Amino acid sequence: MGVEGMEEKDQHEQHEGKEEPQQHNTLQHINDRSLKAVVIGLGYVGLPMAVEMAQAGYQVHGIDIDTSKIAKLNAGQSYVIGIEDDILQSLMQTGLFTASDDYAAVAQAHVIVICVPTPLTAEHQPDISYISAAVDGMTPYLVEGSLVILESTTYPGTTEERVKQPIEAANGWRAGEQFYVCYSPERVDPGSVHYGVKNTPKIIGGSTPACLTYGKQFYGSFLNEVVPVSSTTVAETAKLFENTFRSVNIALVNELTPACEQMGVNIWEVLGAAATKPFGYMPFYPGPGIGGHCIPIDPIYLSWAASRQGSELQFIQLADTTNRQMPERVVKRAAELLEQNGVSVRGARVVLAGMAYKKDIDDLRESPALDVFRLLSAAGAEVVFTDPMVPLFRKDDGTLLQSRPATPELWTWADLVIITTDHSAFDYQEMADQAKLIFDTRNATAGCHGGNIVVLGQPVRRGKTGDTYGES
Ligand SMILES: NC(=O)c1ccc[n+]([C@@H]2O[C@H](COP(=O)([O-])OP(=O)(O)OC[C@H]3O[C@@H](n4cnc5c(N)ncnc54)[C@H](O)[C@@H]3O)[C@@H](O)[C@H]2O)c1
Repeated sequence: MGVEGMEEKDQHEQHEGKEEPQQHNTLQHINDRSLKAVVIGLGYVGLPMAVEMAQAGYQVHGIDIDTSKIAKLNAGQSYVIGIEDDILQSLMQTGLFTASDDYAAVAQAHVIVICVPTPLTAEHQPDISYISAAVDGMTPYLVEGSLVILESTTYPGTTEERVKQPIEAANGWRAGEQFYVCYSPERVDPGSVHYGVKNTPKIIGGSTPACLTYGKQFYGSFLNEVVPVSSTTVAETAKLFENTFRSVNIALVNELTPACEQMGVNIWEVLGAAATKPFGYMPFYPGPGIGGHCIPIDPIYLSWAASRQGSELQFIQLADTTNRQMPERVVKRAAELLEQNGVSVRGARVVLAGMAYKKDIDDLRESPALDVFRLLSAAGAEVVFTDPMVPLFRKDDGTLLQSRPATPELWTWADLVIITTDHSAFDYQEMADQAKLIFDTRNATAGCHGGNIVVLGQPVRRGKTGDTYGES
């Protein structure tokens, strides 16, 4: 069913003369499951959230400016891992989920959830233009009594400055009176089989106490646990801090990795031993760098927000620099390993096993494997890739590169295989049996046999000539 199929403007904006009438009515829509919601931005975050709401019995309309996504959804095809086609199709058949690129659907919605991207600008600063575009797009259609929730990750102050205030100014309303505003960060862990939208505790902050009441009631009606906080800015900062915590700790192990190699200490054994401590410790692992839409970006939002108030967050800067050096370190080490095998990096055949930024997902955004690819190509290597989740990617020159099948022939073709993503689908023992040389940046070959495997973070021994090589 399309936008036009949804009922005309609901009564939820028509309550003159009664005390707090909208609140009463919207809560009732929650209670009797007659509530209508719009989700703006149907990507990795928005689509699963829309599906979760629809599965709870709400009538959900998704809006996205990417018409190719809308076409796929209307054909019953999901493009997000974890959202199966048959679930989508049944929700569409029952009319619980519809999708279009038309903001007019906002006029029928009691709740509007914004899940648009928040990348960095070319100057490495927060780019919240997508949030502003979404707010501009929906504001003319908003009806009194609506609850607007921002879920995009962003710096503290965004909800007040870029959502609440523009709506108040455009419509002459006040938050907490004619409409309600909350911030609730999405904390999805892509690829996780343990935590999804429903069972990940949902932090929420409101612009006013009434806003918070609305938000709590809404999410509490279909999610396992809601965590209310005192303001939208606390909720915004909590999300940024979670990912900054990850970035800083990943940087710590990434920095420790070459030091351990040189000290003759296997960092993986160290991390495994440390992880047995049942309190006060959480494991993080080294790798070829950080990727995705969160860890590389969110800390920059936090440090930008702090610096505009005059506070410099040095840990964030150091962690960012350390993590961003990893692809270069991997390529340097790969070149050394090739040299030790009598092959120059220029003209060497290199297979990157895994392009996605993380195990068992298909997301290429900010993937460190892309940087490894660029750097090796620039050094003159012939680089191909294999990834069971990523069929192709667009190179910097605009051409598309297809994933190669992960076959014994591919492994034997290569002078060097670099494991950049530890996908479960790879047969690591077969890789070890066939490849001339493997550089494993994820410790994915733990338990495999073969003297041809060098693992990032394992001790480096020095040969007579001063060359370095790793132990497998
Ligand atoms: N992907 C994750 O793992 C993850 C986890 C937690 C939080 N987040 C945050 O959630 C937000 C969304 O991330 P994502 O991964 O879903 O991004 P995404 O790129 O997968 O999806 C965003 C969608 O918004 C659409 N869009 C952009 N501008 C629009 C507009 N004006 N109107 C309607 N649609 C519009 C895009 O076409 C796209 O489909 C970001 O702030 C991100 O930082 C992402």
